[in-house]
Amino acid sequence: MRIAIAGGTGLLGGKLAHEAKERGHEVRPLSRATGIDLTAPDGVAETAARIDGCDAVIDVLSIGTQNEATSIAFFESATRSLLSAEKQAGVGHHIALSIVGVDRAPAAYYAGKVAQERAVQEGSIPWTILRATQFHEFAAQMFTVAARGPIHLAPRMRTQPVAADEVARRLVDLAEAPAHGRVPDLAGPQEESLVDMIRRYARATGHRGWIPAVSLPGPFGRAMRDGRLLPAADATIGRQSFTEWIASLR
Ligand SMILES: NC(=O)c1ccc[n+]([C@@H]2O[C@H](COP(=O)([O-])OP(=O)(O)OC[C@H]3O[C@@H](n4cnc5c(N)ncnc54)[C@H](OP(=O)(O)O)[C@@H]3O)[C@@H](O)[C@H]2O)c1
Repeated sequence: MRIAIAGGTGLLGGKLAHEAKERGHEVRPLSRATGIDLTAPDGVAETAARIDGCDAVIDVLSIGTQNEATSIAFFESATRSLLSAEKQAGVGHHIALSIVGVDRAPAAYYAGKVAQERAVQEGSIPWTILRATQFHEFAAQMFTVAARGPIHLAPRMRTQPVAADEVARRLVDLAEAPAHGRVPDLAGPQEESLVDMIRRYARATGHRGWIPAVSLPGPFGRAMRDGRLLPAADATIGRQSFTEWIASLR
């Protein structure tokens, strides 16, 4: 198969590209690093040319923002641009990766993911949407993002993290199959505390400083703590635990 990966140079996109190539597929990464800006107003024709002949497009784009309007504008415009290019190029399957609980927790970033899901569902390209829980790598992302000078803050959150490698494998499985609509959520094998995950990641990578636990204020802070971001009972459960992932870093 030929598979285009929007965000194919990112954390998950790189793993996806590796997995798809291992299975013998031709991969076309789409990102600014490969010359495609999916938010450029006149970019559809160029994207269509890049994905010509592809059987599926997997969207794992992301933007680093805490601003709701910015998140919605990014995910809406990139999704619409991708879907228009897919229509022009005759691509028959659009697969999007979303996050467990996006419609239950009021976060600025999540508002963009909800807009992305809606645009995919309302579009004319047959689609599949997979929601995954936080990746094990989320501990590393939060360790970096929540640093205030030498202090790394650890927000309180209930999560059931999953290996990004397993998310990548599931997305390639989905690209190899016909469009499914919304498929069961994907989560890791056990619930963890994000505070504990960040502290264990920090220790495993040689950080010895103080990592205070914090409760984020407001409705999203409450959603992080009250279990709303945990997977539903019918979720597909991955194999690798956070403990195994941490051990694999050494
Ligand atoms: N992190 C988690 O725990 C988690 C959990 C569940 C689901 N997800 C979802 O997983 C997906 C991937 O997350 P990630 O952490 O792998 O993201 P990431 O590492 O930040 O990668 C984002 C990708 O998007 C590309 N991109 C950004 N702006 C672009 C633009 N204007 N045009 C074209 N490409 C653009 C980036 O490449 P350039 O900078 O070169 O453009 C990069 O390849 C996201 O949709 C996220 O919501 C994440």
